[in-house]
Amino acid sequence: MEATNATKTCPTIIVILGATGDLTWRKLVPAIYNLYLDKWIPGNFALIGISRKKISNPAFLTRLHEGVNKFSRRGKTKKTDWDNFAKYISYQAGEFSNNSTYTKLEKGIKSLEKKWKVKANVIFYLAVPPVAFEEIACKIGTSGLAADKSRSRIIIEKPFGHDLDSAKKLNTLLHGIFDESQIYRIDHYLGKETVQNILAFRFANALFEPVWNRNYIDSVQITVSEQLGVENRGNYYETAGALRDMIQNHLFQLLCLIAMEPPVSFDANEVRNKKVDVLNALRKIHPNEVNEYAVRGQYGPGWIEGKKVIGYRKEPDVNKESCKETFAAIKLFIDNWRWQGIPFYLRTGKRMNETISIITIKFKPVPHKSFPPEAISNWQPNMLMLHIQPHMGIHLQFQAKRPGLQMMLNPVDMEFNYEDSYSSGMPEAYETLLLDIIEGDSTLFMRADQVEAAWEALMPVIENWEMNPPVNFPNYESGTQGPEAAEALIAKDGNSWIAISPEKK
Ligand code: BG6
Repeated sequence: MEATNATKTCPTIIVILGATGDLTWRKLVPAIYNLYLDKWIPGNFALIGISRKKISNPAFLTRLHEGVNKFSRRGKTKKTDWDNFAKYISYQAGEFSNNSTYTKLEKGIKSLEKKWKVKANVIFYLAVPPVAFEEIACKIGTSGLAADKSRSRIIIEKPFGHDLDSAKKLNTLLHGIFDESQIYRIDHYLGKETVQNILAFRFANALFEPVWNRNYIDSVQITVSEQLGVENRGNYYETAGALRDMIQNHLFQLLCLIAMEPPVSFDANEVRNKKVDVLNALRKIHPNEVNEYAVRGQYGPGWIEGKKVIGYRKEPDVNKESCKETFAAIKLFIDNWRWQGIPFYLRTGKRMNETISIITIKFKPVPHKSFPPEAISNWQPNMLMLHIQPHMGIHLQFQAKRPGLQMMLNPVDMEFNYEDSYSSGMPEAYETLLLDIIEGDSTLFMRADQVEAAWEALMPVIENWEMNPPVNFPNYESGTQGPEAAEALIAKDGNSWIAISPEKK
């Protein structure tokens, strides 16, 4: 294959451990297939899938093909494209606990390198449940597969640890085998176009940075609401909950991008240093004050898009008296010069009325309203809305004079919409992230200290919630905007959450 884009990429072997799982099927292989179509994949490339399931190579390929047809952003594959791509893929059945799995893999890698007459970069993607991380990482280590530190990389999916202690333990274990530069901790939010665009918006424009601070900004809201329930992930979700599943990673990443200081360069460590600074500056929530700063909720039955849905406690694999939160809202302060005293409100929930991820920056009022009272009856503060998904764009709300003979002000919207400005297809988050890993760029991945700082900030809430089971669950109906207490949380500051309503496309 001619690899026109793949100028920075060396011969590469991606080994997916957990190759018959959902993540491989829905996300990883469709992403690699699109990288292949866009000619980002190097000429010397192989994808080796490993799983316990004893299936043949053709059966494995058929399953992957089905997944690509279903989930690729480009829709169904063309036969010749798929057939050519499939030549790069092979399957190996094996237990992760058996040394023979890794010996066989090593043989496979060596024979490819012999054929290519060149050493390859080998990427191990752990697309497995977190309980398997440690064992697989150790086996990769003891088998010598990661001995060449300049050529081997390991990818760990979230959740990275279950709390601060387990995250530290996992980091220590990984650091015994890999250098930090070889470890790619994935948070797929960082691969989203609109999330990466926060950096461009903030640091490639002179206009916003001067007002991006406590002098002009009143408060920041980050909402990630989902209509989906826990689906078939009850087992996992019962050990996680909204705080661990979403806030500790995805919402904290968004918070870091909004609050970080300008990086001096786009060097991976420089960008990550600036993000860690934000997490380290988060004001510690005192264990006795958790109720002042955080609210939890769990969905009961209700209606989504006109369909009746069951409550969380009736979902498969969920304890009938589960105390797990499916909604979490938290108020945070960042103790530094830029953000002193400015509240950051974060909320996320499942089975909410809409699926929306949005960051809202509310600006302070003008210092003096010189207009007559009747002109400003509809006055609202400037709001900047960064729409992450499903609508992708940036809206700035400001006051304008309503056409007419009298001076009447009302808020209007200035809009940038991706679909109006760009006609080309948008890469999926996993495409961006996988390509970065192939190219060895870790800017968009979480470093050990960042993961630990994120856990540290949340531990008082996690511990308080675990010690004090909720008495009122379920406390919000499916298809609503979460529990009432979430509103009260920020009403104390004279604020209210933006309404979660269907977005303009
Ligand atoms: C995952 C969570 O990390 O992110 C899920 O485990 C959640 O519970 C998902 O549904 C949301 O991702 P996205 O890209 O659909 O917003």
